This record gives sequence, C-alpha cells and structure tokens, in this order.
Amino acid sequence: MAEYTRQTTLDAPSGKIADLKDIDWTFEGADTQYLTHGLHSYPARMIPQIPRTLFDYYKSKGVLSEGDTVYDPFSGSGTTAVEGRLHGLNAEANDVNPLACLLTFAKSIPLPREEVETARRELLDGLAEELREVRSAYEDGTLELDELAVRDGWFPEPQQQELWHVRRRIDGIEAEYGEGIGRLLRVSLSASSVK
Ligand SMILES: C[S@@+](CC[C@H](N)C(=O)[O-])C[C@H]1O[C@@H](n2cnc3c(N)ncnc32)[C@H](O)[C@@H]1O
Repeated sequence: MAEYTRQTTLDAPSGKIADLKDIDWTFEGADTQYLTHGLHSYPARMIPQIPRTLFDYYKSKGVLSEGDTVYDPFSGSGTTAVEGRLHGLNAEANDVNPLACLLTFAKSIPLPREEVETARRELLDGLAEELREVRSAYEDGTLELDELAVRDGWFPEPQQQELWHVRRRIDGIEAEYGEGIGRLLRVSLSASSVK
C-alpha cells in the first residue's frame, strides 16, 4: 500500500488552505488508494481527499481537535472513518449494508502490523495446494458437499467449495488472532471473483 503523506492536501494555489474555495475539488490525478482506502472497490466511494481536506481545514481553523468525534451515518466502505482516524479523531459510523459495516471496521481500526503479516502468511501458506486438492476431489466426485454452509447460487460449485475452504482457514486464524484480523481477511473473500 502507498504511504500516506499529509502534505498532498495542500493543493490550493497558495500552498496552504486559506479558504475552501481555493481547493481544486476534482483532485485530478490524486492517489485515492493509499493505506486501506484501496482495500475494496465498494461502489460509490467518496475519494479520501475530500474528508482529508475538510479535516485538515477545520483542524487548521481550530474547529476540530484531536479526540473529537466524526460520525458518518452512511459510511459506505468507511472513507470518512479512515480519514478521521488518520487525523486523530474518533470515528463512529453505520450503514444499512452489512458489507459496508465490515469494510468500515476492517479499514479503520488499527491492527498490529506484525500480526497482520503473520496472519496473512498463515492464510496463504499451502493454500494453493489445498485448493488444488479441493478442485481435484470435486472433479473426482469425492468431495463432501454437505459441509458447505453457503449455497447462495452466486458462485458455481467448484468455486463455492474453494471459497468455503478459504473461509474455514480465516475462521481458524480469527480464533487465534481475534476479530480485527478476521475482519480484515474476510474482506479478501468479499472481493473474490470467479476465474
Ligand atoms: C455513497 S455511499 C457513502 C460513502 C461514504 N460516506 C464514504 O465516506 O465513502 C452511501 C451509503 O449509504 C448507505 N445507505 C443508504 N441508505 C441508508 C440508510 N437508510 N441507512 C444507512 N445507510 C444507508 C448505502 O448502503 C451506501 O453504503
């Protein structure tokens, strides 16, 4: 993930935000995927530069201070919550869509970097081989289909089986490392596609 730098907010011609009218709100060419912002392509995302600029502006004017709370009642994938946390604010959010809630939690709650890396390695270690075995057992007709908990008709069966195995791994990792890591890894399932 790209590094976060505070400086890029200052896109105003003067080099500092004198007034919100000085800002080029198109943010053309700006990196919108830094840190966790690029974790999921949730539809209708707000670009992070918008809340980031507003938080910088209102902090510079003394309207907002570290420890204040920002609330987004339509949080989507959590852009505002992530930027709020990056600006030292508390973030509260809700959304009618449970996926949006999952994404907001996963993207905005800080996790120990080493734990994330260890969990990521555990998820991927031997996974490709396991999935090849699942596919081969499926094709041989020896796979136990009854263990499949989700049959939503969205994915064809071989991919459902594979995703189910990934999910079981994530369940195990979550039991070991906790809900925060579990949420982060579940986002990878929500972004799965059929090949
Ligand atoms: C454009 S997105 C919001 C983007 C978000 N503010 C951000 O920072 O990226 C709009 C969100 O509003 C949610 N929504 C729509 N109607 C809602 C309602 N009645 N209550 C809560 N959330 C709702 C949708 O599920 C969607 O995730």
